[in-house]
Amino acid sequence: MKKSILLVGYKEHFIFNVIKSGLERDDILVETQLLSEKSEIDDSLPGLWLVILDKELLSITGLLPKLSENAVASDASLFLVGSDEDLELASGIISREVIAAKFEKPLNIRSISDALNRELLGTAVDDAVRILVIDDDSTMLHFIENLLSPAYSIYLANSGESALSFLGSNRVDLILLDVRMPNMDGFETITHIRKLKNLESTPVVFLTANDDLEAEAKCLSAGGADFIRKPFLPEVLQLRVRNIIELEKLRKSLSSEVDKKTRQVTEQKKQIEELVVEIVQTLSGAIDAKDRYTNGHSLRVAHYSMEIARRYGYSVEEQQSVFIAGLLHDVGKIGISDAILNKPDKLTDEEYAIIMTHPTIGAEILKNVKSIPNFAIGAHWHHERYDGKGYPDGLKGNEIPEIARIIGVADAYDTMASTRSYRSYLPQDRIKKEIIEGRGKQFSPEFADIMLQMIEEDTEYDMHEK
Ligand SMILES: [Fe+2]
Repeated sequence: MKKSILLVGYKEHFIFNVIKSGLERDDILVETQLLSEKSEIDDSLPGLWLVILDKELLSITGLLPKLSENAVASDASLFLVGSDEDLELASGIISREVIAAKFEKPLNIRSISDALNRELLGTAVDDAVRILVIDDDSTMLHFIENLLSPAYSIYLANSGESALSFLGSNRVDLILLDVRMPNMDGFETITHIRKLKNLESTPVVFLTANDDLEAEAKCLSAGGADFIRKPFLPEVLQLRVRNIIELEKLRKSLSSEVDKKTRQVTEQKKQIEELVVEIVQTLSGAIDAKDRYTNGHSLRVAHYSMEIARRYGYSVEEQQSVFIAGLLHDVGKIGISDAILNKPDKLTDEEYAIIMTHPTIGAEILKNVKSIPNFAIGAHWHHERYDGKGYPDGLKGNEIPEIARIIGVADAYDTMASTRSYRSYLPQDRIKKEIIEGRGKQFSPEFADIMLQMIEEDTEYDMHEK
């Protein structure tokens, strides 16, 4: 025996005609009833399997309780076309379990039958291509729906405004958009659509009137993927839509492939960067170990330099490069003998002259790292002075590269904030005084100011050798 479905609507029949045409199959008979306040539901259909109720019926007092008490209908499942709130309302009126589907407007046959299949038959909804058709002419909407719905999920909107509210919470793969609509026309609609998240590149096909030749150029320049002139042959619409969807699938798979490769490259780049930092950190540890007075000096200078750079407005990438340049600033000490570096007594002029070669040696060591020239800059010029009295080149003011001026301040700070064989680390006030005095002489004023600000904020005096 055929199963039957009873569609019970309230006054307006349009929606139920849509549902009916979507549900009718060889083995299912669909009957509709339109009720008003006075009528009662006739549920004497043979093999009644499902009763679909319009939410408007909830407003008719006494109608639904009667249905739930009825012996025949109580074997059938009840399905309410409405929202969560409607369902809650229904559960207060009907003493049986009601299954509800939230049908977004514009209503769509596929979404209704999908929901019914999912709830009642337990079948999975296929992940079909979703197409939104926007046209103020309802005949045109349904004509297009009939042409395309066997192959795709079709959603209908009779204005730009309702399309936008639908698109706010629904994914679509293709949009067919009428140009001439009252209030918001096609061009205005597409402008709003493009501003919505994830719809920046969803293909939009304009539907234009035959006599509107100018509109076609306008459609394409407004970002339309194509246009179709009305009236059109059914096959033309079906073929155009199929082509665009195929193209879109190709584009998506291509772009996901590009994304995948980009992610791989980014990941590799990150690993290499981490490796570089690790190697440089190891190297700077080795430099510091050579000089027994400078325990952890390079790492602290790197941190202070990076912080100065951050406060000065460097990007994260630039800060990273300052950090590495800071780690390497004393790399030239590799070329200075341990005996001189670790000499507890005062250095002779000759020995001091040897120490002063470490920036040049450092620059020489790092000159082969051509892809990242910043690394050598810190090592080469961190002992230059703003007044031109530094070494090795006696550069003055902004002749000294910015990174070297930053590291110069951080280096001098850490030297004062570190313990020497003959003294402990200096008190904060003393260091502050030295930096104020050296501002514009030894130190680049802007970086001296940032360092002073950092000292000011370091109320517990954490920034010293531990
Ligand atoms: Fe140095």
